[in-house]
Amino acid sequence: MHRRGLLGIEMLTREEIQEILDRAKFYQPLEARTGKKLDRLQGKTVIHLFFESSTRTRASFEIAAKRLGADTISISAQGSSADKGESLLDTLNTLAAMRPDAIVMRHSASGAPHFMARMLETPIINAGDGTHEHPTQALLDALTILDHKPTLAGLRVAIIGDIVHSRVARSNLHLLTKFGAQVQLCGPPPMLPREFEYFSPTVTRTFRIEEAIADADVIMMLRVQLERQNALWVTSVSEYFHFYGLRLEHLKAARPDAIVMHPGPVNRGREISSEVADFPRSVILNQVENGVAVRMAVLDLLLAGAEFKPAESTKPN
Ligand code: CP
Repeated sequence: MHRRGLLGIEMLTREEIQEILDRAKFYQPLEARTGKKLDRLQGKTVIHLFFESSTRTRASFEIAAKRLGADTISISAQGSSADKGESLLDTLNTLAAMRPDAIVMRHSASGAPHFMARMLETPIINAGDGTHEHPTQALLDALTILDHKPTLAGLRVAIIGDIVHSRVARSNLHLLTKFGAQVQLCGPPPMLPREFEYFSPTVTRTFRIEEAIADADVIMMLRVQLERQNALWVTSVSEYFHFYGLRLEHLKAARPDAIVMHPGPVNRGREISSEVADFPRSVILNQVENGVAVRMAVLDLLLAGAEFKPAESTKPN
């Protein structure tokens, strides 16, 4: 993480993940202070380069960088010289020549940030690459779970929906299994291929939502990623909702202390009902809030590093 930025959860050790979570915990109360800007990244410049649409990740990275005192520049593919045929490498080389301290990037191609990290000296932070990884999402999800549960070890987490296209699912699988959680994946067969069973002995697969949520401590719903599907895999919204949409009647059968998560954007009436999304057990907006703290932690560790007052450990174990 310190040399090449943050590319994925897969390559992080438990200790590195713990360090990010500890620092994010430190920033949770700080981020609640309105109007208080820190000077940890004063004099630093962070470029946010988004080749795919985003609301949460983009806004929270910008807020995080600004709260730490950095200058930020935000660039979308639309309206940039990518529209005029400039290659991704040329775009990145051009931006790197302006000597930013980090580039936060989202791209539809899996592995794009990894390729750029090999080509550039500038640290790259992966804000989501294709169907591959979304590391800061998994980190903010872990922070949110630990706000409600004492530990990740032994926790039963159900991840339900379009698993095969989900970078959120992959990053969460890496993080949760590193810390000993048991993950039950659930979705229609085309969205949940057998390869996921081989991810780890603590990962299992089911095609029935009732089975997935029955013993779950955490229910993580995923959006159907129509933009990544070659054919219409789901016959209709109502059919998908009937078989895989999370509804209040499901929660009656779930553990009473189970929490409901969703990385957003939420498609109400497709993968989750409004009643559940707005239900007291939903922590969806806590996830959004923790996104700022986690991104502050990542930027701080990457660009400021030492001379930090240690926070109390969040103890995933
Ligand atoms: N969870 C997430 O990545 O949301 P955005 O696409 O809005 O950034």
